[in-house]
Amino acid sequence: MFYLCRTFQGSVKDLFFILELRSGLYYFFNMFDSVDAVKEFIRHPSVSTDSNFKEGMHGARTFISELLSSAGLEVEVFETPKHPIVLATRNGDESWPHVLIYGHYDVQPADPLNLWQSPPYEPEIRDSRLYGRGAADNKGPMMVHIAGCAKLLEQYPDLPLRVTFLIEGEEEIGSPSFADFLEAQKERLKADFVLLSDTSSRSEDAISITTGLRGIFCLDVKLTGPNSDLHSGLYGGAVVNPIAALFDLCASLHDKDGFVNIPGFYDDVILPEEWERDEVARLNITDDYLKKFLNVDALMYQKGYTPVEATRFLPTLEFNGVGGGYQGEGSKTIIPSEAFAKLSCRLVPNQSVEKICNQLYKTLQERCPAGVKLEIVPEHSGPAYGVVPPDRPNTPADQPEALAKAFRAMDSAILDVFGSKPCYTREGGSVPIIGDLKRVLNVDSLMLGMFTDKSNLHAPNESIDLEMFRKGIEVSYRTLAAVAGVDA
Ligand code: BES
Ligand code: MN
Repeated sequence: MFYLCRTFQGSVKDLFFILELRSGLYYFFNMFDSVDAVKEFIRHPSVSTDSNFKEGMHGARTFISELLSSAGLEVEVFETPKHPIVLATRNGDESWPHVLIYGHYDVQPADPLNLWQSPPYEPEIRDSRLYGRGAADNKGPMMVHIAGCAKLLEQYPDLPLRVTFLIEGEEEIGSPSFADFLEAQKERLKADFVLLSDTSSRSEDAISITTGLRGIFCLDVKLTGPNSDLHSGLYGGAVVNPIAALFDLCASLHDKDGFVNIPGFYDDVILPEEWERDEVARLNITDDYLKKFLNVDALMYQKGYTPVEATRFLPTLEFNGVGGGYQGEGSKTIIPSEAFAKLSCRLVPNQSVEKICNQLYKTLQERCPAGVKLEIVPEHSGPAYGVVPPDRPNTPADQPEALAKAFRAMDSAILDVFGSKPCYTREGGSVPIIGDLKRVLNVDSLMLGMFTDKSNLHAPNESIDLEMFRKGIEVSYRTLAAVAGVDA
C-alpha cells in the first residue's frame, strides 16, 4: 500500500483516492498492533557486533523504515562505515516545536542460547511479558514512542509538531559512526529535546524519568613476556610471569575500600544533590534485595555511598574479561608468553573521558613491572550525561521552556496512567549518543524508563512487560500532545 502512495503519478481524482488511502493508513497504523510490531521486529536478528548477522541487521532496518514510512514520515537511510542510520522526519513550520525521538535497532548477541526458555528470535508471550532478544533493549521501548507519536498524528493530521526519528544500528558497539553523522546532519538534528526509552524503571508501577547516564570508555590491556610459552620447570622462578604481572597491575587499580586507585580519578566528580539521594531512596532497592536478587552474600561499600547509590553517582573501573595461558582440560606446565584483560570505566557527569583515559594509561605504564611489555588498545567511548528537571534547587535558570514543559507533561502523564509519581533517577548504564547530542547541539534528553530488573538486559530470556509497554505508549502520546499544545 505504501509503495502505491510513494510511486503514484495519477490524476487529481485519483489523488483524492490516494489521500483517502493515506488517512486510511494512519488509521491502519493506529490500529496496527504495536505488540505484533515488536514481535516482527524481534524476528530480525540484528546483532551489530557480529558480521554473521548482516541479514538480520538489514531486515530490522527495513522493517523499522517501512513502519515509520507507514506513519506518514519521510524516511532516509544513511550509510555509515558499519551499520546505516535511519532518519524519519515530519517537517513543518519553523515555529513548531521539534522533537527528536531516538532508538537503536541493534541488539546484543543472544548467547548462551541453551539458557533461553524460548528461542531468542522467536518472540513469545508468557504471563503478559514478551520474550525475545531486543524485547527490552531497545525494540520494545523504541516502539512505545513510535506508537505514541503515530496515535497522535492519526488524531491530529495537522499536528503542529516537527518530529525526527533517529534510529541507529551501532548503540551496542558504542556508536562509532555517530560523531561523523552528527557533524554532517547537525542542522536537522537540532531539536528542542530528545525523547527516548533506553533506561530502567524500578518496577512496572514505579516508573523512572532518567536524569543521568554514565559515560564509558573501554580498552584492551596486553602484557607480553618471553617470546614463547616456556616450560615452567626450566624457567619458573627466573622470568616474570605475564599472568602474575597482569593480576598485580589490575589489583593495583582499586584500593582496599573499593575506590578506584588512579590519581585524580574522582577530582571532577560532583556530589549528588540531596533531592537525587532522596529519589534513589524512593526506589527502595535495599542491600538485602540486591543480595537475594543477585545471589551474592556481600556487596561493595564505598564510603559515603550505598551500593545502589554507587552505581548511579560514582564512576567505576571494571574488568570485563581476562585471558592468557592454558585454558583447556587438565593442566599444562607453562609460563605463558602473554596475558590480556579487557577493562572499562564508567564515568559520571562533569568527568572528561579524555582526561580519565589518559590518567589510566599513565598509571598502567608507571605500574607495569619490568620483564613484561605493556600494550594498550583503546576501544569505544562516550561521554556521561546529566539533566536537571524543572523546579529543583539546581535547575538551570536558562532551561528551555519546551524541555520544562515536556518534563512536566511526562510527570503528570505518568501519575495519571501508572497511578504514581515518577522517580527522577540517574542510571549507571550508558547511551553514548545522548551526551554527544548535548555536547554538540546543546540538546537535552527526556528519558522514560521502560525496562525493569526482570527484563534481563543483555542476558538470556530478555523480556518486556506488556502492560507497562501499553501504558508507556499512552504516556508518550500525552507528552507529545502537551508539547504540540493539543488535547490528548
Ligand atoms: N539500554 C542500555 C543502557 C542502559 C543500561 C541504561 C542499563 C540504563 C541501565 C544500552 O542499550 C546499553 O546497553 N548501552 C551500553 C553502551 C556501550 C556498549 C557503549 C552499555 O551501557 O554498556
Ligand atoms: Mn544494550
